[in-house]
Amino acid sequence: MFSEVFKHSAVLSLTAERSRAELLLGLGVVIFLIKLVDILVVRPWRHWLKALQLGCGSVPTESRKWPLGLDIVRNGMLADRDQRLPEYVTARFAAMDRYTWRMKVLGSSNFITAEPRNIQAILATQFDDFKLSDVRTTNLKLFLGRSIFAVDGPAWHSAREVMRPLFTRENVSNVCLLESHFQTMMRCLLESSEGVVSTSRDSHGRTWTAPVSLAVLLPRFTLDSATEVFLGQSAHSLESMLRGEKKEDLNWALEQMVPLLRMRLTLRGLYWIYGNMELRRIAEVMHKFTNDAMDKADATVRSGENRAKYDFLDTLRARCADRDEVREQVLGLLAAGTDTTAALTGWVFYSLIRNPRVYTKLRDVVMQHFGTSANAKNTGDSVTFEKLKNCTYLQHVLNETLRRHSVVPLNSRCAKRDTTLPTGGGPDGTQPIFVPAGTEVNFSTHVLHRRRDLWGPGADDFVPERWEKRRPGVFHYVPFNGGPRICIGQQFALTEAGFVIVRMLQEFDAIEGLDLDNTSRDYSNFGITCAPGSSIDRHEGVLCRLRLAK
Ligand code: HEM
Repeated sequence: MFSEVFKHSAVLSLTAERSRAELLLGLGVVIFLIKLVDILVVRPWRHWLKALQLGCGSVPTESRKWPLGLDIVRNGMLADRDQRLPEYVTARFAAMDRYTWRMKVLGSSNFITAEPRNIQAILATQFDDFKLSDVRTTNLKLFLGRSIFAVDGPAWHSAREVMRPLFTRENVSNVCLLESHFQTMMRCLLESSEGVVSTSRDSHGRTWTAPVSLAVLLPRFTLDSATEVFLGQSAHSLESMLRGEKKEDLNWALEQMVPLLRMRLTLRGLYWIYGNMELRRIAEVMHKFTNDAMDKADATVRSGENRAKYDFLDTLRARCADRDEVREQVLGLLAAGTDTTAALTGWVFYSLIRNPRVYTKLRDVVMQHFGTSANAKNTGDSVTFEKLKNCTYLQHVLNETLRRHSVVPLNSRCAKRDTTLPTGGGPDGTQPIFVPAGTEVNFSTHVLHRRRDLWGPGADDFVPERWEKRRPGVFHYVPFNGGPRICIGQQFALTEAGFVIVRMLQEFDAIEGLDLDNTSRDYSNFGITCAPGSSIDRHEGVLCRLRLAK
């Protein structure tokens, strides 16, 4: 009897279980269908209607040959392999014959633009309509936590406030400490390892350096000087190079971080499947360096020593919530400020090698304005912030280099809410465009800075003299972007790059490129930023030898 009842109730519960499963499955299918109809019909219809109401025109979409735009992804990877990524983006703009268009890749539908008015809207006039893309904030959070570079909204506002006093003219104009790092870089240029001379003499008895990649030396110079400025402790990566050391130090960590982060940014939402263990190791090395520097600063307080070299760190500590935030902000500054400044300086020498006329003219100007290297060594103050700023031709060379070679050639923002951009829609591309919430808008300063309609038929040429006559139009020239999030380290970067260029030209009166290939194409080594590459080895950009001045 009991067994019958039991059997019966078991059958009943099985049936109930099955019908519950069927119900859930049915519900799932209905939700899926509703979502599908929403994505395929309702949303496009709503967007179309809203665009119509707002007087927006349609935007052409780039054609794709393979599903999900995989052909575009593949071509991008090939262009990157060939060190042609900026040119690949330019070619896509040329194929579209427009400066604003839509691309559909890997299931996302984004805009891309090189229109000054649109870039101005994204970065400045409609700043509150846009945010950083989630791919950037999630990826950077692991390393940089609350760093100004990784956060948005109120957290960004407070980080920017923390940073502001660090970049006063007084702080930025202090070039004194650069000289000792420059002297170490000189040793790297003249010695193959500590104390072993590597120079050679030509038939005229003039001394030349051995072949050297400036793109290898410059990031070490910027790292060594930035760590001294921000933390009071230099990473001394140039010295470890001279000693032939291969250890897991801060320079190693930053070098490892770039390709890893780049891959994670490429994987977008799937970033978490790649490189977690390696990233943790890199983060440990970075954290140790910054923590040690802070400990040393504390020890200096206790011993009553001169704390002048900890000015930057002290200001930061007074304004950050805790020690972890100090570390996050310093690492953010190192990540944002070292490779970028090194890339700019590298591109200057890359351009000077290919334009000997400009090298000779700039060197003459430097000699007149700053004197010889003996001056720099003896008086110690021949290269000052004011003199760098007043050296017009040097500033024109920097401007022209940043115009032709954007260190950040492509950037993006994501629409926080439904909004519009001023131009790019309709048959002739002059109507506003509708940007639905969640849409990413990419913008290319590389394409913008090479537009012939804005810069003339010689837009691709390296002509610093063009800056004598022209003041670029609004948002025609934005190597440091613009609006409230404009690069906070702009003056710092231009001062440091200017210093290195002047000191190099004082020390060397000729430069010979060793990786020129008789073409006019450029070689771009794209990490997170865009540095000069090389026809021989992309990681040994600006391969050259330099002749010591008499
Ligand atoms: C040639 C060198 C440099 C270039 C081309 C450059 C370029 C840029 C660009 C384009 C941005 C805007 C990024 C965005 O909002 O998506 C930016 C932001 C930033 N840069 Fe630079 N940068 C350079 C050097 C530096 C230096 C030397 C520092 C610090 C010492 C620095 C610190 C920062 C910081 C902290 C931000 C974030 C600002 C914010 O979000 O409010 N940069 N930079």
